[in-house]
Amino acid sequence: MHITVVGSGYVGLVAGACFADLEHEVILVDNDQKKLADLRAGQIPIHENFLPELLDRHRGRRLTFSDDIQAATQASAAVFIAVGTPPTEQGEADLSYVESVARSISGAINSYKVIVEKSTVPVYTSEWIRKIMLRNAAPPDAFDVASNPEFLREGTAVTDFLYPDRIVLGADSERCASVLREIYAPLTDGSYYRRKDAIPRPDRAAVMPTAIVTSAKSAELIKHASNAFLAMKISFVNAVASICESVGANVQQVCRGIGTDSRIGPRFLNPGIGYGGSCFPKDLMAFRSVARECGYEFRLLDEVMRINEDQRQRFLRKVRNALWTLRGKRLGVLGLAFKGGTDDIRESPAILLVQSLVQEGCQVAAYDPAARERAREMLNSSVEFTDNAYEAATNADALLILTEWDEFANLDLDRLHKALKYPIVIDGRNLYDPEVMAARGFTYYSVGRAPVSPEGHATDTAPSLRTSTS
Ligand SMILES: NC(=O)c1ccc[n+]([C@@H]2O[C@H](COP(=O)([O-])OP(=O)(O)OC[C@H]3O[C@@H](n4cnc5c(N)ncnc54)[C@H](O)[C@@H]3O)[C@@H](O)[C@H]2O)c1
Repeated sequence: MHITVVGSGYVGLVAGACFADLEHEVILVDNDQKKLADLRAGQIPIHENFLPELLDRHRGRRLTFSDDIQAATQASAAVFIAVGTPPTEQGEADLSYVESVARSISGAINSYKVIVEKSTVPVYTSEWIRKIMLRNAAPPDAFDVASNPEFLREGTAVTDFLYPDRIVLGADSERCASVLREIYAPLTDGSYYRRKDAIPRPDRAAVMPTAIVTSAKSAELIKHASNAFLAMKISFVNAVASICESVGANVQQVCRGIGTDSRIGPRFLNPGIGYGGSCFPKDLMAFRSVARECGYEFRLLDEVMRINEDQRQRFLRKVRNALWTLRGKRLGVLGLAFKGGTDDIRESPAILLVQSLVQEGCQVAAYDPAARERAREMLNSSVEFTDNAYEAATNADALLILTEWDEFANLDLDRLHKALKYPIVIDGRNLYDPEVMAARGFTYYSVGRAPVSPEGHATDTAPSLRTSTS
C-alpha cells in the first residue's frame, strides 16, 4: 500500500521505517528541511535500536523523504499524522500542528483516503480533523478519519512497533477499518514473523498481536487511559517505596509480592525518581483537561502527578542527607536521558535534578551514552560532560545514578571506588544490590530500600526522609 507519514520524529520515523519493512511504499513528510536533508544523506536523527538497519534497508527504495505534503497525500491511500502534540500553558494538548496538517492535505484528496491520527490526541480530535478538512473543501465521501494510537516506547521503539501486544484500529466505517487492517496484515496474519529478514523478536513479545477494532473516539481514549494507568502504576509504587523507606522494608521484595499476582503483573513496578519523557507528563495533563471539559474532575490524576513531582524532591533530600551541604560539592551523574536506550531528554527527571543541583551550587560531571549532545544544548556550560562513567566519578563527593542504562548496572565497582573521592553512590534507579555495594566498600542509597554503609549496618535514615512528604 502507498502510505504517507507526516512528521518524522520519534514516532513518525520509526512508523515509516517499519511500514516500509512491512513492504509498503512509504513517503515520510516533514517541514524541517535540515531533518530531511540529514535523513536523505543517511544520517539518523535519533538513537533507537534497529532503526539504522531499517533505514539502510529501505532508504531511497520503499522509503522516501519529502516536504511536499500534497503530492505525498495524492500518491497515498493512507496518511498518518505523527506530528507533535505538546502541552499548552494550561496543560491541554496543542493541536495546532495536527490542524495545520489537516488543512494542508484537504486539497489533495483525489481518491478515497484514510487519514490516520498516530499522534496522541484528545477524544474528539478525529471529528475536528474531519470538520477542518470539509471546511477546506475536501470531498466528504472521499476520506475517513481514523485513530491508530501508538504504544511504542523509546529505546525499544522498533521492536515495540513490529511486535506489539495489540494494534488499536479506531475506525467509524468498515471501508476505513479494512484499509487499516490491510496495512497491519503482515503482523496480524503472522507473515512478517515468518520472514528470515524480520527484525528479531524480543523476549517478552506476544506470539501475534491482536487487532482491536473500535470507534475512533474509543481509540483516542484508549491511548490517554493507557498512559494515565501506567503513570499511576509508577506513582503507586513510588508511594509504596516511600513507606518502605520509613519502616525499613525493602520495596523490591514488596514489588515481587505484588507483581506475581497475575491481576497486577510485575511490569512498571520499578520505583525510581519518577516518570518523565515527552508522553506521560503531557498526556496526563491533557487527559485531565479532557475529563474536565466533559464535566469530570479526574482527581486521581492530580495525585499521580503530585507523587511524581514529590519523588524528585525526595531524591534531592536523599542527596542532602548523604552529603550535608551541597554548595561546592562535586557530583558525578550517570544518565541524562529520561530513560535508558534513548537520547530523548524531554521532561527528563535526570535533567530536572541536575538543574536543581547546579542551582544549589554543585559542580556536576555527567555521562550519558546517547543523550550528551541534546543535554549539552539544554544545560550548556553549567555541566561538564565526560566520555565514560568513571570519568564522571573521578574525584566526586558522590555518584548519582539517574537513568537505567544497562551499562550503568554493570560498572567495574573497584574502578569506581578508586575514582570517587568518597565512595558514596546515590542510586535513583535501584541498579545495584545494597548488600553487594556495602561489601564492596560503598555507602549506598537507593529508592525504597534502607541505605547501607561498608560497616555493614544501615546508615541512619535522616528525619526528612522519615517524616512524610512535602
Ligand atoms: N515519543 C514517543 O515515545 C511517543 C509514543 C507514542 C505516541 N507519541 C505521540 O506521537 C506524536 C509525535 O511524537 P514524537 O515524539 O514523534 O514528536 P517529535 O517532536 O519527535 O516529531 C514530530 C515531527 O513532526 C514534524 N512536524 C511538525 N509539524 C509538521 C507539519 N505541519 N508538517 C510536517 N511535519 C511536521 C516535526 O518537524 C517533527 O519532526 C505526539 O503526539 C506524541 O505524544 C509519542
